[in-house]
Amino acid sequence: MSESAVNRIDTTVAHPARRYNYWLGGKDNFAADRANGDAVEKAMPTIRLMAIENRRFLGRAARFLAERHGVRQFLDIGTGIPAPGNTHEVVQAVDPTAKIVYVDNDPIVLTHARALLTSAPAGSVAYLDADLRDPRSILENPELRATLDFTQPVGLLLIAVLHFIREDEDPAGIVRTLLDALPAGSYVAATHATWEYQSAEAVAELNKANPDGRFAPRDGNDFAALFDGLELIDPGVVSVARWRSDEESQPRPAIEDVSCNGLVARKP
Ligand SMILES: C[S@@+](CC[C@H](N)C(=O)[O-])C[C@H]1O[C@@H](n2cnc3c(N)ncnc32)[C@H](O)[C@@H]1O
Repeated sequence: MSESAVNRIDTTVAHPARRYNYWLGGKDNFAADRANGDAVEKAMPTIRLMAIENRRFLGRAARFLAERHGVRQFLDIGTGIPAPGNTHEVVQAVDPTAKIVYVDNDPIVLTHARALLTSAPAGSVAYLDADLRDPRSILENPELRATLDFTQPVGLLLIAVLHFIREDEDPAGIVRTLLDALPAGSYVAATHATWEYQSAEAVAELNKANPDGRFAPRDGNDFAALFDGLELIDPGVVSVARWRSDEESQPRPAIEDVSCNGLVARKP
C-alpha cells in the first residue's frame, strides 16, 4: 500500500465503497461505515438485497456485452472494493484477451488494486486512481490509452456511481464527455439508485443517513436523460432486478425492495 494512499484513508466517516462492501458481507469496512450502513438499513430494510442485485446486474450486463455484442475492452468507473464477480473475471471468462481499465477515487480501493490487477495472461487490466467528476483526467491518462484501443468499441461501466454526482457537478456533461471519446458501436451499462419506490418517511430517514450530503438518487426518467442520444437496449430502463434476469434461476425480488434502476445502451 503506498504511503499517500494510507494517508488519504479517513476511517472516521462512512465511505461509499466501504459501506457497500459492508452491505455485501465483506470485511473491508470500519465502524463508521457499519454505523452508517445500519442507519440506511433501518430506513430501507432491503438495502443489502439492493446491493446484491446491483452486483448481479454488473455481472449480467458485462457478460451480455462480451458474449452477445463482442465487446472486448471495458472502462469500469466506480469499481469498488474487489468482490466476487469483478469485471475482469466476468469478461475474461468469455474471452481471456479482454482488456479492462478500472477507475475509482477512493484510496481504500487503491490499496486493493493489486487484487483487481490479476488479469488472465492473454489480456490486460489497469487501475487508475482518478475522479469521475474530472472525466478528461481519465480520458487523457496514458495508462488508459496504453491499455484500451479507442478505435475499437469500448464498454463503459458506470455501476452504482452516478448517484454520487450531484446535479451542480453536471452528471450529464460528465457522461457526454466520456461517450464523445468512445467510437460508434460502443456501449454503456449503468445503474442508479432511485427513491421512486420508497415512502416519504423512508426517504426522510434515507436523506438523514446520507453520509456527506453528496448522494443524489434520480428517478428512471432523469437517469435515462443522462444517456440521451444513445440507443437503449431491451428492456430499457428497469429495476436492476428485472434487467434480463430470466437468465438467473433465483426468484426475482419485488422492485420496491431493489431501489436501483439499470440500463444498457449503444452509441450509434
Ligand atoms: C456503490 S460502489 C459500486 C462498486 C461497483 N461498481 C459495483 O457496482 O459493484 C461505488 C463506487 O464508486 C466510487 N466513487 C464514488 N464517487 C466517485 C468519483 N467521483 N470518482 C470515482 N469513483 C467514485 C466509490 O469509491 C465506490 O467504490
